[in-house]
Amino acid sequence: MNNFHYNVPTEIFFGKGAIENLNQIAHYGKRVLLVCGKDSIKKMGLYDEVVRILEQLDMDFFELSGVDPNPRIESVRQGSVLCKKHGVDVVLAVGGGSVIDCAKVVAAAALYEGDAWELVLDPKMIVDALPVVSVLTLAATGSEMNGSAVITNFETREKIGAYSTLLKPKFSIMDPVYTFTVSRAMTAAGVADIMSHTLENYFTPVKGAYVQARFCESLLKTCIHYGPIVIEDLSNYEARANLMWAGTLAINGICSLGQQTGWSVHPLQHQLGAYYDITHGVGLAILTPPWMRYVLSDETVGKFVEFGVNVWGLNPDGDPYDIANRAIDKTEAFFMSLDLPMTLSEVGIDDQYLEEMAKNCEFRTLKGYVPLTYRDSMAIYEAVL
Ligand code: NZQ
Ligand code: ZN
Repeated sequence: MNNFHYNVPTEIFFGKGAIENLNQIAHYGKRVLLVCGKDSIKKMGLYDEVVRILEQLDMDFFELSGVDPNPRIESVRQGSVLCKKHGVDVVLAVGGGSVIDCAKVVAAAALYEGDAWELVLDPKMIVDALPVVSVLTLAATGSEMNGSAVITNFETREKIGAYSTLLKPKFSIMDPVYTFTVSRAMTAAGVADIMSHTLENYFTPVKGAYVQARFCESLLKTCIHYGPIVIEDLSNYEARANLMWAGTLAINGICSLGQQTGWSVHPLQHQLGAYYDITHGVGLAILTPPWMRYVLSDETVGKFVEFGVNVWGLNPDGDPYDIANRAIDKTEAFFMSLDLPMTLSEVGIDDQYLEEMAKNCEFRTLKGYVPLTYRDSMAIYEAVL
């Protein structure tokens, strides 16, 4: 296990009625920028609830609404202008990962003189940020308890994750009931995203981080257990609650620190997001099985056996490659059982930009579990055309 420093100062208020804790926002000032997506929070009544609390606290609030999935840098710029113009003290994100990510970079850009995109390209330039508070409505990204924000610039065809400890929310409200309205398809994509974060941490060349590996396995088993249940019954509280907490734990450091390595499938997927604006979790579900098959080798087969035995319950006796391949097949079959697409053509992607995308992600995947070159990325994309 490698050395690490762990510090997540985000307070979590979890469960039914947790929204009442939003009144803690008053500790951070009087002027709030409320960041939200299109209309989901209005339809479910959460918007009214948030406004009620802000009004009770006698807070002034301004709004950045309509933040898109795969949040655009244009929204961030708009938000930072609002913050500067109105002297905003605290940024409140109410929505899924896209809304929270957008709010985080808005919070940093509000205290930065240059263009917000510079902060995404080089997050070391984030030296200060307004406090961020979140109310999560979709279990997937873990943005509610980490310092990452993924922003897309469609002009330059870049989708980039920026990280700074200054972007970690001060507190997050997590009421699983708010996720009941997430569609079947988005719920499945969320499960795939949680599993992908966990797998990116699980498949590491670092030895001896036993406890992190067992954490990963329990999160994967949680997704495998509750994914099908929630797809059949979108209002199942137990399933929604477990998935929501698994989503947070998969990417708040518990599973990665001490065994950190570069990620592989996410950089490949971020290219799809930048070029085709597809749903993040869908791209991950498509790319995960071919990535696994591609990196399976004498060096990695042992880890795949561990995955097959501990996560999928396969019999440890037998040919390691057979166990590894069955584990990969089971992973693929699981995604299919959630009705997730399994090929790029199903989401409208052909070979037009494959070479460009493979070149772009080469430099971002160099330090992955198995380093991927341009040729490797091409082979993985082509395997699922
Ligand atoms: O716009 P609204 O109306 O809010 O609708 C959204 C959106 O259409 C809808 N939705 C959210 N909560 C809902 C709901 N619909 C009904 N009921 C609810 N309760 O769902 C759609 C997708 O929302 P989005 O926020 O885009 O989804 P998600 O949470 O999966 O976020 C995806 C983004 O996060 C980034 C991804 O790249 C992508 O841009 N990621 C962020 C990470 C991080 N910060 O650590 C890590 C991840 O790997 C990921 O890259
Ligand atoms: Zn992800």
